[in-house]
Amino acid sequence: MRTPIPSVYVQGLGSYAPSRILANEELASIVDTSDEWIITRSGIRERHIAAPDETGADMAAKAAQAALADAHISPEDIDLLIVATVSDDTPVPSVACRVHSKIGLKSGVPAFDITAACSGFIYLLQIANHMLRAGDYRRALVIATEKLSRITDWTDRSTCVLFGDAAGAAVLAKCDIPHAGILGNVLGADGTKGDLLAVNPRNAPAPVFPAALPSGTHTIAMNGREVFKNAVRVMSQACRSVLAKCATDPAQLALIIPHQANIRIIEAISDELKIPLSRFKINLDRYGNTSAASIPLALDEAYRAGEIKEGDLVLLVAFGGGFTWGASLIRWQKNPEKTTPAL
Ligand code: UT7
Repeated sequence: MRTPIPSVYVQGLGSYAPSRILANEELASIVDTSDEWIITRSGIRERHIAAPDETGADMAAKAAQAALADAHISPEDIDLLIVATVSDDTPVPSVACRVHSKIGLKSGVPAFDITAACSGFIYLLQIANHMLRAGDYRRALVIATEKLSRITDWTDRSTCVLFGDAAGAAVLAKCDIPHAGILGNVLGADGTKGDLLAVNPRNAPAPVFPAALPSGTHTIAMNGREVFKNAVRVMSQACRSVLAKCATDPAQLALIIPHQANIRIIEAISDELKIPLSRFKINLDRYGNTSAASIPLALDEAYRAGEIKEGDLVLLVAFGGGFTWGASLIRWQKNPEKTTPAL
């Protein structure tokens, strides 16, 4: 008899955003911009900014604790930890190792960071999915955390109005039922377009806002128009690819959670795929672009607001610097034993 192929499902979700809110009006007092321009061109109204002494690892630990509570498990139940980030200032120890200690994982549980910019969470899902299904691990904690305020150039109005700080986490668990939870993933990258969105070293000390924020030695630089065009094309294509791979029709989707970069990008993808905008989760108005954290933050918000119910098909899609991209199709199941449809 053949052994059934196991599945990996989302057992718990959590997210965290710092309490300090920076509204468009306040930004207009430090760069030449306006609330009206930012809302019209991006859809963003405000973003959250971490405290000067609050690190990406601190935010990650809070999101992780919320995900563990949601999964009704304790840190001892986790046997793999992976973190996605582009904004940390300490390469070693990794953010994952610092979170390992902060939340008290068992000694010996492997922990490492990955870098895939705004596509980081989709990369995490794919890596953990394969590591769990290969059989060595039963439960993974994956976390995306970004303190983008640390690497923002607060004198560049074309970028500083876009970004915010946040973290999102998921507990992924293996179950022995086929075709549950994560149904399929696609990932991609194109290194030839790396210069269009990069975190570059600065020749002078980075300007900071508010003044008390620690400054980074690298800051974000972006060709917004080119990134915009590529984001629409590549995210639409990634959605089509993962739906084809899973033999799923767009009409079957309950919710699409796109990377939250710009409302006009999401509207263009909605037009391109002929899926009504009402089926796209949008929270960028309140958080801005939080890079890798944007998808788990929006997914957690949708889940806690009851916008996703057991058995729903949810499509996650991201695009970011690198370029990198990815999409995941998930059957939303907290109880796969009870709710996996018969084939
Ligand atoms: O997370 C990874 C993915 N990231 C993205 O997907 C971001 C993609 N890009 C975008 O979202 C948009 O390109 C932006 C929101 C960044 C910019 O919107 P846009 O419609 O592409 O504006 P633009 O760059 O073409 O600039 C239009 C005008 C320019 O002035 P001129 O040359 O027409 O006189 C800019 O200087 O708007 C000016 N501008 C601003 N004006 C007021 C640029 N930034 C601002 C600002 N406030 N903050």
